This record gives sequence, structure tokens and C-alpha cells, in this order.
Amino acid sequence: MKPRAVPQWSDFWQQGFVTTFGPGMPDNYQGVIADFWDSQFEHLEDGARILDIATGNGAVAILAAKTARKQDKTFAITGCDLATINPQVTASEEVQALRAGLRFRSNTACEKLPFDKGAFEFVSSQFGLEYCKIPQVLGEIRRVLVPGGKFVAIAHHGDSNLLKAAHSEVQVYRALLKDMNLFGRVRAYFGALGNPLNQEELRMAINKAKPLSTSVNEAVASMKKRYPDSECARQMLAAINSLAQGAARVQSKQRLRTLAMVSEDFEMAGERLEDMVKAGLDGDAIDRLHALARTSAFSDFSCQPFLDDGGNLAGWHIELS
Ligand SMILES: C[S@@+](CC[C@H](N)C(=O)[O-])C[C@H]1O[C@@H](n2cnc3c(N)ncnc32)[C@H](O)[C@@H]1O
Repeated sequence: MKPRAVPQWSDFWQQGFVTTFGPGMPDNYQGVIADFWDSQFEHLEDGARILDIATGNGAVAILAAKTARKQDKTFAITGCDLATINPQVTASEEVQALRAGLRFRSNTACEKLPFDKGAFEFVSSQFGLEYCKIPQVLGEIRRVLVPGGKFVAIAHHGDSNLLKAAHSEVQVYRALLKDMNLFGRVRAYFGALGNPLNQEELRMAINKAKPLSTSVNEAVASMKKRYPDSECARQMLAAINSLAQGAARVQSKQRLRTLAMVSEDFEMAGERLEDMVKAGLDGDAIDRLHALARTSAFSDFSCQPFLDDGGNLAGWHIELS
């Protein structure tokens, strides 16, 4: 069976970002996250085989390569993800060089790992396991680990600041894209402008389309009023302004094509945030994970809150062996 597609993630990784935080964290995870993974990988022996699941463009796999280089070891590192990930990333030469020695597999669901029994000494996951069907994935991780192998994850915590912010941004995306149909209104206006051949025709087209531009302006005014602090509302406003500025200078077909691309980017960003919110694990989910770990033949389970550089709750630190 073909794995289901995740275009919202493929689209994101094709842009060349190294981390889930895109331009906000352009050259891989730093600080406590990087230190955490270094402290995990540094205990592995030379030659250890590591699998990073739901790897995205390989951030954690790259951190494993960094630890190996620091310790003068060689690890065989593989990253896999359901999305179509990118052979290239936009990052420093150091990150690119570390990444060059890794193996990646796109379009690979964690629920059905294409690796032999006992193929890895260590499996890592960062903001990955919780995006998948956990019971199946735990079984697969146990299968591909050698006896005595270890699985370590940093997972989203439902009460982390990140998830709380994602939750409120999802409401904004829904309101603007679905309820208010912001881009649908712009599309109607852009379509009505047609292809005026001169300034006079343009003036007439703008006049005729006045009710449609008013509808856009009303939606924008309401958006500014309702979501003065929202990053996504700010970005949508900037995108609409820039689209509107160039609109009259191009043919209708091109105008609508550019709009479609921009609106799809926002749809996908909204879907990624929805995925993130759904992935958040609360205390009950951790209890269920513990119970599942036992049925998946893991003998040791530990889980504690993971704190960010400022000491704020950032996720869960989970270990299974
Ligand atoms: C938040 S990103 C994490 C990426 C990376 N580990 C990081 O820390 O930046 C979640 C990833 O999970 C992947 N994913 C979602 N469902 C999956 C599944 N069933 N199997 C494998 N990967 C999956 C998505 O494609 C996405 O790349």
C-alpha cells in the first residue's frame, strides 16, 4: 500500500529548511536541544547505526553526525520521513557537509519501516512519533532495534508555549481562510479586473469591481481588528498588499496563478499547525504510551518534561529500551 501523502510537509521541506521552525531556526537546532542530542549520541559506540524517524530535512540526524565528528567516530545515520524531503538544504557549509554523509528515505511511513529486524542500535525522534500512529510505530521501532537498543524522543507537550501559540494561530487560520474566505474574496476581485488594455479600461474595470474590492477591504479591516497580534494575520495582510500592488500590471491569468500559489502556501501552513496541535501529548497520552510500550516489548520506559533554554516547558523527553 502506498503511504498517504503529506503535501503540507513535502512543500515545507522542499523550501530547503533544516528545522521545523524554518527561517526562525535556519542553521539547525541550537542550545538545549542540540546539547540534549549530543548527550544522547555521545554514548554510542563507533560504528553505531542510528535511525531518525520523521526526520524532516534531517535536523537530528545532522546533530548525530556532529557528535560523531566531535568524537572522531563513524555512525551510520539514516533519516526517514513520510514527506518528500529535500536533497539540498539552505544552511551553513558545516551543516551541509555533515548532512552530505547521511542516508535519507522520503515517502517512508514510520508505521511501516523498510528496514530489517535489528538494523539499528539507536532510534531517535524529535516532534515525530506523536505525528504518527503511535501503536504501530512503537512496534516497528522495537522490531528495527537490536536487543538492548534504545529509542529516545523529544515530543510535543500539549501545554508547552509552542503548542499554545500554535493552537491560537490555528483559530486565526481557520477564521481567515475558511470563515472569512479572505483569498476567495481576493480571487473574485482579481478575476473581475479582467485584462484592461489601457489606463481608461483599467479605471473602468476597477470601478465595476468596486463591490468586490470593498468586500476584500472589509475582511482586511475585520482581520486587523480581531487579530492585532497574530503573526499569521500579519503575514496574510502583507501578502495581500503585495499581490494587490502588482495586480493591475499583469494579465488576469498570471494574477490569478500567483494568488493561487500564495493562498495554497497559507493553506499548507495552516495544515502544518493543525498537525502540530493534534500531535500534542497530555498526561493521559503519556500514560497510554507507557502502557503501549509494555505491549510492544519495551522493558524500560521513562518520561519527563523537557525544558527550553529559558526553563519553559517545551516538550516531553521520552526514553524506551
Ligand atoms: C514537526 S516535523 C519534525 C521534523 C524534524 N524531526 C524536526 O525536529 O525538525 C514532523 C514530521 O513528521 C512527518 N510525519 C508525519 N507523519 C508521519 C508518518 N506517519 N511517518 C513518517 N513521518 C511522518 C512529517 O512529514 C514531518 O516531516
